Amino acid sequence: MKNIVILISGSGSNMAAIVRAAEREGWARRFDARIAAVISNKADAAGLAIARAQGIATEVVAHKDFDTREAFDGALARAIDAQAPTLVVLAGFMRILTPAFVAHYEGRLLNIHPSLLPAFPGLRTHQRAIEAGCRVAGLTVHEVTVELDHGPILAQAAVPVMPDDTADTLAARVLAHEHRVYPQAIAAWLARPAPATPA
Ligand code: GRF
Repeated sequence: MKNIVILISGSGSNMAAIVRAAEREGWARRFDARIAAVISNKADAAGLAIARAQGIATEVVAHKDFDTREAFDGALARAIDAQAPTLVVLAGFMRILTPAFVAHYEGRLLNIHPSLLPAFPGLRTHQRAIEAGCRVAGLTVHEVTVELDHGPILAQAAVPVMPDDTADTLAARVLAHEHRVYPQAIAAWLARPAPATPA
Protein backbone atom coordinates (compact mmCIF):
# COMPACT_ATOMS: atom_id res chain seq x y z
CA MET A 1 0.00 0.00 0.00
CA LYS A 2 1.25 3.48 -0.86
CA ASN A 3 0.73 5.68 2.18
CA ILE A 4 0.02 9.36 1.67
CA VAL A 5 0.61 11.73 4.59
CA ILE A 6 -0.98 15.19 4.37
CA LEU A 7 0.34 18.14 6.39
CA ILE A 8 -2.01 21.01 7.23
CA SER A 9 -2.06 24.15 9.39
CA GLY A 10 -5.60 25.44 9.07
CA SER A 11 -8.96 24.84 7.48
CA GLY A 12 -7.77 21.83 5.51
CA SER A 13 -10.07 22.33 2.55
CA ASN A 14 -7.42 21.09 0.09
CA MET A 15 -6.85 18.03 2.31
CA ALA A 16 -10.61 17.40 2.33
CA ALA A 17 -10.74 17.70 -1.47
CA ILE A 18 -7.89 15.17 -1.78
CA VAL A 19 -9.65 12.76 0.61
CA ARG A 20 -12.89 13.10 -1.38
CA ALA A 21 -11.11 12.50 -4.69
CA ALA A 22 -9.30 9.44 -3.29
CA GLU A 23 -12.64 7.99 -2.28
CA ARG A 24 -14.56 9.00 -5.41
CA GLU A 25 -11.86 7.90 -7.84
CA GLY A 26 -10.94 4.67 -6.05
CA TRP A 27 -7.26 5.48 -5.44
CA ALA A 28 -6.99 2.31 -3.29
CA ARG A 29 -8.00 0.11 -6.20
CA ARG A 30 -6.34 2.13 -8.98
CA PHE A 31 -3.07 3.10 -7.30
CA ASP A 32 -2.97 0.91 -4.18
CA ALA A 33 -2.83 4.23 -2.31
CA ARG A 34 -4.56 5.63 0.75
CA ILE A 35 -4.50 8.73 2.93
CA ALA A 36 -2.71 7.24 5.94
CA ALA A 37 -2.59 10.28 8.21
CA VAL A 38 -3.14 14.01 8.51
CA ILE A 39 -0.61 15.90 10.61
CA SER A 40 -0.97 19.51 11.78
CA ASN A 41 1.49 21.89 13.38
CA LYS A 42 -1.47 23.55 15.11
CA ALA A 43 -3.73 21.75 17.59
CA ASP A 44 -6.71 23.95 16.66
CA ALA A 45 -6.53 23.39 12.88
CA ALA A 46 -10.12 22.91 11.74
CA GLY A 47 -9.00 20.34 9.18
CA LEU A 48 -8.14 17.85 11.95
CA ALA A 49 -11.84 17.34 12.76
CA ILE A 50 -12.64 16.86 9.07
CA ALA A 51 -9.96 14.16 8.82
CA ARG A 52 -11.11 12.42 12.00
CA ALA A 53 -14.70 12.41 10.73
CA GLN A 54 -13.39 10.52 7.69
CA GLY A 55 -11.73 7.95 9.93
CA ILE A 56 -8.23 9.15 9.08
CA ALA A 57 -5.51 9.06 11.74
CA THR A 58 -4.51 12.54 12.89
CA GLU A 59 -1.58 13.86 14.82
CA VAL A 60 -0.40 17.24 16.09
CA VAL A 61 3.27 18.16 16.13
CA ALA A 62 3.10 21.70 17.51
CA HIS A 63 5.95 23.91 16.32
CA LYS A 64 5.48 26.00 19.47
CA ASP A 65 6.74 23.07 21.56
CA PHE A 66 10.18 23.22 19.95
CA ASP A 67 12.98 25.73 20.38
CA THR A 68 14.44 25.43 16.91
CA ARG A 69 13.26 24.72 13.39
CA GLU A 70 15.60 21.74 13.29
CA ALA A 71 14.06 20.19 16.42
CA PHE A 72 10.52 20.72 15.11
CA ASP A 73 11.34 19.29 11.69
CA GLY A 74 13.00 16.29 13.34
CA ALA A 75 9.88 15.52 15.38
CA LEU A 76 7.68 16.13 12.35
CA ALA A 77 9.76 13.74 10.23
CA ARG A 78 9.53 11.06 12.93
CA ALA A 79 5.71 11.38 12.96
CA ILE A 80 5.59 11.22 9.15
CA ASP A 81 8.03 8.32 8.87
CA ALA A 82 5.98 6.28 11.37
CA GLN A 83 3.46 6.08 8.49
CA ALA A 84 6.05 4.73 6.00
CA PRO A 85 4.97 7.33 3.43
CA THR A 86 5.26 7.00 -0.33
CA LEU A 87 4.15 10.61 -0.71
CA VAL A 88 4.01 13.62 1.61
CA VAL A 89 1.54 16.35 0.63
CA LEU A 90 1.73 19.91 1.96
CA ALA A 91 -1.80 21.33 1.91
CA GLY A 92 -1.87 24.77 3.45
CA PHE A 93 1.04 23.82 5.72
CA MET A 94 2.38 27.19 6.78
CA ARG A 95 5.90 26.41 8.01
CA ILE A 96 9.19 26.86 6.22
CA LEU A 97 10.97 23.51 6.18
CA THR A 98 14.69 22.97 6.81
CA PRO A 99 16.96 21.78 3.99
CA ALA A 100 17.52 18.49 5.87
CA PHE A 101 13.77 17.83 6.00
CA VAL A 102 13.33 18.64 2.31
CA ALA A 103 16.30 16.43 1.37
CA HIS A 104 14.87 13.54 3.39
CA TYR A 105 11.65 13.62 1.29
CA GLU A 106 13.22 14.57 -2.03
CA GLY A 107 11.08 13.43 -4.95
CA ARG A 108 8.09 12.56 -2.75
CA LEU A 109 7.13 15.94 -1.26
CA LEU A 110 4.48 18.08 -3.01
CA ASN A 111 3.09 21.55 -2.30
CA ILE A 112 0.34 23.76 -3.64
CA HIS A 113 0.96 27.48 -3.87
CA PRO A 114 -1.79 29.99 -4.69
CA SER A 115 -0.05 31.81 -7.54
CA LEU A 116 1.28 31.08 -10.99
CA LEU A 117 4.88 30.39 -9.96
CA PRO A 118 7.51 31.68 -10.48
CA ALA A 119 5.35 34.81 -9.93
CA PHE A 120 4.62 35.66 -6.29
CA PRO A 121 6.35 33.09 -4.14
CA GLY A 122 5.79 33.62 -0.39
CA LEU A 123 2.81 35.13 1.39
CA ARG A 124 -0.05 37.56 0.46
CA THR A 125 -0.04 36.27 -3.12
CA HIS A 126 -3.56 37.45 -3.97
CA GLN A 127 -3.06 40.98 -2.65
CA ARG A 128 0.26 41.23 -4.50
CA ALA A 129 -1.32 39.99 -7.76
CA ILE A 130 -4.08 42.62 -7.46
CA GLU A 131 -1.58 45.39 -6.65
CA ALA A 132 0.54 44.39 -9.65
CA GLY A 133 -2.49 44.79 -11.91
CA CYS A 134 -2.49 41.13 -12.96
CA ARG A 135 -5.45 40.11 -15.10
CA VAL A 136 -4.74 36.45 -14.43
CA ALA A 137 -3.87 34.71 -11.16
CA GLY A 138 -3.78 31.02 -10.41
CA LEU A 139 -2.18 28.15 -8.59
CA THR A 140 0.79 25.85 -8.89
CA VAL A 141 1.38 22.29 -7.68
CA HIS A 142 5.09 21.62 -7.47
CA GLU A 143 7.70 19.31 -6.03
CA VAL A 144 9.29 20.85 -2.98
CA THR A 145 12.95 21.78 -3.16
CA VAL A 146 15.07 23.73 -0.72
CA GLU A 147 14.19 27.12 -2.18
CA LEU A 148 10.75 28.28 -0.93
CA ASP A 149 7.95 27.93 -3.52
CA HIS A 150 10.29 26.65 -6.22
CA GLY A 151 10.83 23.16 -7.59
CA PRO A 152 9.57 21.29 -10.64
CA ILE A 153 6.04 22.29 -11.62
CA LEU A 154 3.55 19.42 -11.84
CA ALA A 155 0.33 21.33 -12.57
CA GLN A 156 -0.99 24.87 -12.88
CA ALA A 157 -4.33 26.53 -13.48
CA ALA A 158 -4.98 30.12 -14.46
CA VAL A 159 -7.85 32.00 -12.80
CA PRO A 160 -9.13 35.42 -13.95
CA VAL A 161 -8.76 38.47 -11.73
CA MET A 162 -11.97 40.54 -11.80
CA PRO A 163 -11.84 44.37 -11.70
CA ASP A 164 -13.60 44.51 -8.33
CA ASP A 165 -11.68 41.66 -6.70
CA THR A 166 -10.35 41.92 -3.18
CA ALA A 167 -7.68 39.55 -1.90
CA ASP A 168 -10.49 37.54 -0.28
CA THR A 169 -12.69 37.19 -3.37
CA LEU A 170 -9.70 36.29 -5.51
CA ALA A 171 -8.47 33.78 -2.89
CA ALA A 172 -11.88 32.08 -2.85
CA ARG A 173 -11.94 31.80 -6.66
CA VAL A 174 -8.41 30.37 -6.74
CA LEU A 175 -9.14 27.98 -3.87
CA ALA A 176 -12.04 26.38 -5.77
CA HIS A 177 -9.57 25.55 -8.55
CA GLU A 178 -7.00 24.28 -6.02
CA HIS A 179 -9.59 21.73 -4.88
CA ARG A 180 -9.88 20.46 -8.45
CA VAL A 181 -6.24 20.55 -9.54
CA TYR A 182 -4.38 19.29 -6.44
CA PRO A 183 -6.15 15.89 -6.38
CA GLN A 184 -5.62 15.57 -10.16
CA ALA A 185 -1.90 16.28 -9.79
CA ILE A 186 -1.57 13.75 -6.96
CA ALA A 187 -3.41 11.10 -8.98
CA ALA A 188 -1.06 11.78 -11.91
CA TRP A 189 1.93 11.46 -9.55
CA LEU A 190 0.62 8.14 -8.22
CA ALA A 191 0.06 6.88 -11.77
CA ARG A 192 3.68 7.55 -12.78
CA PRO A 193 5.77 4.45 -13.33
CA ALA A 194 8.02 3.75 -10.34
CA PRO A 195 11.59 5.04 -10.85
CA ALA A 196 13.97 2.28 -11.90
CA THR A 197 16.00 0.89 -9.03
CA PRO A 198 19.72 0.48 -9.71
CA ALA A 199 20.72 -3.14 -10.38
C1 GRF B 1 -4.50 27.44 0.11
O1 GRF B 1 -4.81 28.57 -0.67
C2 GRF B 1 -3.08 27.03 -0.14
O2 GRF B 1 -2.71 27.15 -1.48
C3 GRF B 1 -2.36 28.03 0.70
O3 GRF B 1 -3.11 28.09 1.90
C4 GRF B 1 -4.46 27.78 1.59
C5 GRF B 1 -4.83 26.62 2.47
O4 GRF B 1 -6.19 26.35 2.47
N1 GRF B 1 -0.99 27.69 0.88
P1 GRF B 1 -6.74 24.99 3.10
O5 GRF B 1 -6.12 24.81 4.48
O6 GRF B 1 -6.38 23.87 2.19
O7 GRF B 1 -8.22 25.20 3.22
